[in-house]
Amino acid sequence: MDKQNIYIETYGCQMNLADTEIVQGVLNSTGYKFTNDISQADVVLVNTCAIREHAEERIYGRLGEFRHQKKENPNLIVGVLGCMAERLRKQLIEEEKVVDLIVGPDEYRRVPELIENAFVGEKGIAVRLSKTETYDDIIPYREEGISAWISVMRGCDKFCTFCVVPFTRGRERSRSLESIVEEVRLLSERGFKEINLLGQNVNSYQDDSFDFADLLYAVSKVDKQMRVRFTTSHPQDFSDKLVRTIAENENICNYIHLPVQSGSNRILQLMNRTYTVKHFLKLVEKARIEIPSVSFSTDIITGFPTETDDDHQMTMDLMKEVQFDGAFMFKYSARENTKAWNLGDDVAEEIKSIRLREIIEQQQKISYEINQTLIGKTFEILIEDLSKKSEDFYMGRTDTNKIVIVPKGDLRIGDYCLVKIERANSATLFTSDGIKIEK
Ligand code: 5AD
Ligand code: SF4
Repeated sequence: MDKQNIYIETYGCQMNLADTEIVQGVLNSTGYKFTNDISQADVVLVNTCAIREHAEERIYGRLGEFRHQKKENPNLIVGVLGCMAERLRKQLIEEEKVVDLIVGPDEYRRVPELIENAFVGEKGIAVRLSKTETYDDIIPYREEGISAWISVMRGCDKFCTFCVVPFTRGRERSRSLESIVEEVRLLSERGFKEINLLGQNVNSYQDDSFDFADLLYAVSKVDKQMRVRFTTSHPQDFSDKLVRTIAENENICNYIHLPVQSGSNRILQLMNRTYTVKHFLKLVEKARIEIPSVSFSTDIITGFPTETDDDHQMTMDLMKEVQFDGAFMFKYSARENTKAWNLGDDVAEEIKSIRLREIIEQQQKISYEINQTLIGKTFEILIEDLSKKSEDFYMGRTDTNKIVIVPKGDLRIGDYCLVKIERANSATLFTSDGIKIEK
């Protein structure tokens, strides 16, 4: 019998996108084929996120739809992968009869075996967390493209009190520098133009005596025409050496995603973030001195247990002071088994909504104002894709991670070009002309 057709949907963070490519790598090497058309699928896999309740609700909704699908095709196999699989385990199979297999983030090597079992009617659960699994030897399955994601470390030992990740992804462990560099070399040969190094907390990367700055440096040396980005950084571990490495290497992008979470020291302490507002501000200042064009984005949680109007105001003040280029902002969502769960969830939903709206509006204003100052300036961008809104335009990014819309002209995806910014809103820069540069 021909190997079955697999359809995979991915939710959540970039780490999950990278994990899906690992799962596909495992499946590909055992002969499975992939389809983008769910109606052609024998197996449907969802790679899930558990970070907020809302993320899980979306997956439950999707499982409901798969139930209908299964009525039409009773042989259809449905599998849940990732953080929600790890968190809910058996409960998911018991509550959701549609689910045939459950696989946590450290057991992806077993996906083919569990699919085989499911075809003979055996439901399977594999949710053991590992102290060592890094999938170092698995070749992720990647379509041709411009930008590749490489997970360089897995897990998280930070135990921020609101976060499920240390429970769903287990302890920190790093891939070897050598195998990462080799993967980057192969991607360069295939024509990729950008590498994104990923980890829940990349600054904790450690391979013998090599730290994250060493890894970043080694990756940047593989191909000078390739851009190198990384995420996510923790303010506690962002070393001077890392700042210097970004400053000194042209193709390491001048963009830092640095989640602050709150502008109140009291809340930061309750969150177990292990830094103060002062430390965070110093770090930003230091980076701006060494890397003058650097841009920053952040994550902010609003409505953490016991957050008062004053705490909220401190977050508003911090945002104004730092002038982040962008921010991802979330309402606090209480997650079972985390430490913060025991603090209760005492900020009323309406208050959370009001505070969230305030920080979003303020951030939009800040981003808009920053972007206005870029009008008339010239930037080098990498053309990544077609514009979402029109086929006559491309979207590219500046080194500092700003999106630029440029008319197609003679340009191609993967080209570097120079653009003069003519117009800007809070999220996007616009130009009427891009001049290709040969590198
Ligand atoms: N509720 C709301 N936001 C959360 N995040 C993590 N856990 C929670 C939670 N329980 C946010 C943090 C983190 C980002 C990836 O998601 O801001 O940096
Ligand atoms: Fe979660 Fe904190 Fe680890 Fe980020 S650093 S994954 S927020 S525990």
